[in-house]
Amino acid sequence: DNSLPLDMIIFGGMGDLAMRKLLPALYMAHLHGNLPAATRIISTGRQDFNREAYLAFVEEHSRSFISDGNFADDAWRSFLQRLEFVRVDVQQDDLSALAKVSREGAIRVFYLSTAPSLFTTICEKLSAAGLVDANARVVLEKPLGSDLASAVDINEAVGKHFAESQIYRIDHYLGKETVQNLMVLRFGNSILEPLWRAPNISSVQITVAEEVGVGSRAGFYDGTGAMRDMVQNHLLQLLCIVAMEPPASLAPDAVRDEKLKVLRSLRRFNLAAIARDTVRGQYIRGASGNQAVPGYLEEKNVPPDSGTETFVALRTYVDTWRWSKVPFYLRTGKRMERRSSKIVVEFANPPFPLFPETPGGVANRLVIELQPEEAIKLQVMAKQPGSGMHMQQVELNLDLHSAFTQRRAEAYERLLIDVVRGRLTHFMRRDELEAAWEWADPIINGWGALNEKPRSYAAGTWGPSESFALLARDGFSWFE
Ligand code: BG6
Repeated sequence: DNSLPLDMIIFGGMGDLAMRKLLPALYMAHLHGNLPAATRIISTGRQDFNREAYLAFVEEHSRSFISDGNFADDAWRSFLQRLEFVRVDVQQDDLSALAKVSREGAIRVFYLSTAPSLFTTICEKLSAAGLVDANARVVLEKPLGSDLASAVDINEAVGKHFAESQIYRIDHYLGKETVQNLMVLRFGNSILEPLWRAPNISSVQITVAEEVGVGSRAGFYDGTGAMRDMVQNHLLQLLCIVAMEPPASLAPDAVRDEKLKVLRSLRRFNLAAIARDTVRGQYIRGASGNQAVPGYLEEKNVPPDSGTETFVALRTYVDTWRWSKVPFYLRTGKRMERRSSKIVVEFANPPFPLFPETPGGVANRLVIELQPEEAIKLQVMAKQPGSGMHMQQVELNLDLHSAFTQRRAEAYERLLIDVVRGRLTHFMRRDELEAAWEWADPIINGWGALNEKPRSYAAGTWGPSESFALLARDGFSWFE
């Protein structure tokens, strides 16, 4: 109901995520009239700040994350008027100070952008302060646990105070335009569906490569690693959208039921499979662009003997009729050659080489580029002009930026608007989160049991050579 006032309450309101993503996203929603008229944003933090000091902090730390083209003085000023600050130390204080500021009858959205170890306390104190009513919603930011047991604990603790329909577990990849477009590509067209299965599809690759290193986040990252930080959530969510059966509707549970089935069909790893089908990597000194950059072990706050992985590649299977024997190759890493996220669906080659000069390799690929470019490409074979019957691979190329002129919202903006409107489809349900950990846990534990150090790769490359061997063995290669 857009006529009700909205109180957006951010725990961790001075944190990195609030500054870089949340406030800029809320500003954009404000600029484009997507927030209810009576919206207030109430940030909480431990600092001894008053409202003025907080606004100055936001000026200094958040404003620069709004791109120039979107910045308007008037809109920024009216946005700042929506901001409040409440000083609380959630470990020590009750939330009566917040209860005084938050309006009775408003839709309250609690955005928990804090360490997950605080989630239980915050939810208990919100309840005790009488802030959780039937209209309230809670948004949980990752990491949502570090294994199945801790994820269950979080879910239990939050579930005591909020119904599942009030809980928005964010995976910001689900807010990306191209990721949502993948659903439309698959289910808004009929030409792909008959092909979208074994044996027509011979393999699927999902790459999320980052150019950045661990930066200033080592304190968090070193205890986490690429498997927990990226694979367990973002890459699995992408895999789910590629592999899921058509849902009966776009209702949240219809979509999430199908994704859950995929997660539960993922083949489990035993130690032999871990040794054979997974690659962990860690970057060493190298170059990013033309800049020399340090290795992971030389980054600030990384213990010199850290065995944390900054790269993962693996082969997995979705054990269903549709995907029988089709390998899914997943790969993610920091300090790769460049930022590039894509899904590559490779189709089976023609069963018989009719043209004598048929080049080897894969004839047809559907390449879905998520970032930095947003594009969908279909590779097909065409005849080279001339007297012979020479084939060459060409691309049917859909550049989404030129196909649509509309503004494209960032993931956080789109997801926050979904929260405000009560739309749960692009958020993870409890059982999905737990199923993802059920698959990831044995891999992480197995790495521990095998006691293998991560393989080194130079910063600015595509990862350790073992990652290439993983595909070469099956007659494939990573598609660049
Ligand atoms: C976050 C991870 O979830 O996703 C980060 O914690 C990572 O380590 C980021 O850098 C990548 O997101 P994007 O949108 O830049 O691809």
